[in-house]
Amino acid sequence: MSTQTLPRTLILSALLLALCGSTLYLFVQSRSQAETITALTAEKERLFSENSARTQALLTEQNIANTTITELTTRLAALTTELEDAEDDLRKEKNINDNFEDQIKEISGTIGILDKLSKTDEELLQKYSRTYFLNENFVPMKLKKVDQDYILPGKKDQYFHGDAVNFLTDMIDEAKSDGLDLKIVSAYRSFDEQADLKGQFTQVYGTGSNAFSADQGYSEHQLGTTVDLTNPTVGGAYVSFKETPEYQWLLTHAQRYGFILSYPEGNSFYMYEPWHWRFVGVDLAGDLHRADATLYDWDQRKIDEYLVSIFD
Ligand code: DAL
Ligand code: ZN
Repeated sequence: MSTQTLPRTLILSALLLALCGSTLYLFVQSRSQAETITALTAEKERLFSENSARTQALLTEQNIANTTITELTTRLAALTTELEDAEDDLRKEKNINDNFEDQIKEISGTIGILDKLSKTDEELLQKYSRTYFLNENFVPMKLKKVDQDYILPGKKDQYFHGDAVNFLTDMIDEAKSDGLDLKIVSAYRSFDEQADLKGQFTQVYGTGSNAFSADQGYSEHQLGTTVDLTNPTVGGAYVSFKETPEYQWLLTHAQRYGFILSYPEGNSFYMYEPWHWRFVGVDLAGDLHRADATLYDWDQRKIDEYLVSIFD
């Protein structure tokens, strides 16, 4: 072997050795990478599997939830319908009850009216004067003695309808507070008292008494709701009463207490009687006053409508 051949052999050996080393290194490297890839793949599959299971579980839960929601929605719809039906029934029931209540009220009202009317003399708004006869046996349901202070001194005890007497005394009281002195001369007169009175007048005035005194059974005084008023100055001189401030006061205020003048000037029954006042209730007296009418001007059916409220 020459000296030139030796180094070349050495170089080739070294190269061969290096090549073997590199190959071995690459082989080891490659093995290691393959193992890593295998491990990663296994991990990926595990994660994928785990994720699928979880997704599946979630889907199952969601299905259950969806089913529950559907069931609840259906149940809610059914309950809503039931509730609406119940509300409908309640409304119908309430309507029936309301109608029933209205009927009860109406019946109670009717009973109240009938009860009031049964306690009210039906004659109180009837026309009684020269041509209208009142049952000779008629006596008002209630008669009350009028306090002596309201009666003209020297006159006998006077009685007035028990449900109307306060209207009379209140009226006289108000006149008194206005400085006036109204006094009662004559109030309730029974059939027999009227017969006596008319007899006395007839003895004195003959048939002339018919101009100012009713026959028994035809006098408003028998109703117990009519009164002859005067003042102490005029006393029994009735005709002069028209010139008194008391009479002027009555013309303005008496209707507020339910009183009307039965026989004004020009009436077709008797002479002008400024002293003779009849209680017909505040409503009717007010309406007649506003209409400038007397009881005898109006139709009896129209007047009868006021009877139920005569003492209100
Ligand atoms: N003075 C009236 C008309 C009566 O006697 O009833
Ligand atoms: Zn009279």
